[in-house]
Amino acid sequence: MLKEQLSALIDTSAPTISNLANAAAFLWHELNDISWIGFYLVKDETLCLGPFAGKPACIKIPFGKGVCGTCAKTKEIQIVGDVHKFPGHIACDSASNSEIVIPILLDGKLQGVLDIDSTSFHRFDENDSSIFNEICSILASKCNWDEIC
Ligand code: SME
Repeated sequence: MLKEQLSALIDTSAPTISNLANAAAFLWHELNDISWIGFYLVKDETLCLGPFAGKPACIKIPFGKGVCGTCAKTKEIQIVGDVHKFPGHIACDSASNSEIVIPILLDGKLQGVLDIDSTSFHRFDENDSSIFNEICSILASKCNWDEIC
């Protein structure tokens, strides 16, 4: 249901930044028990803060740093049940206790990541991972990554 609604929300004629802004707002209202959701977009081996919902966050994250940077470097989903145990975790919000980061890949090329935080420990499981991965696949294929804004 989430996937279908999100897919319907995307306007393929609009700039990608507009579609990601609506995607972040939509998921922020639909998901339970989350404290931050947003996109980081790839620019020169660095992740730059994109559309999000929640408190202000760090603007730049180098590949390999923190949970988001690890996802960017490995191109693999990161499910972190306790962020305090993740080496190099970047604490944008000290209230965050668990996190999931999903790569947005188009033909194997990283375009950005979707990052979701929660104040609950172990908020995200394999089922969430699978749903968010499908959402990122939809965004990857329906958005125009040559024209972010
Ligand atoms: N915790 C992330 C940084 C981004 S914020 O959670 C919004 C990380 O370690 O990469």
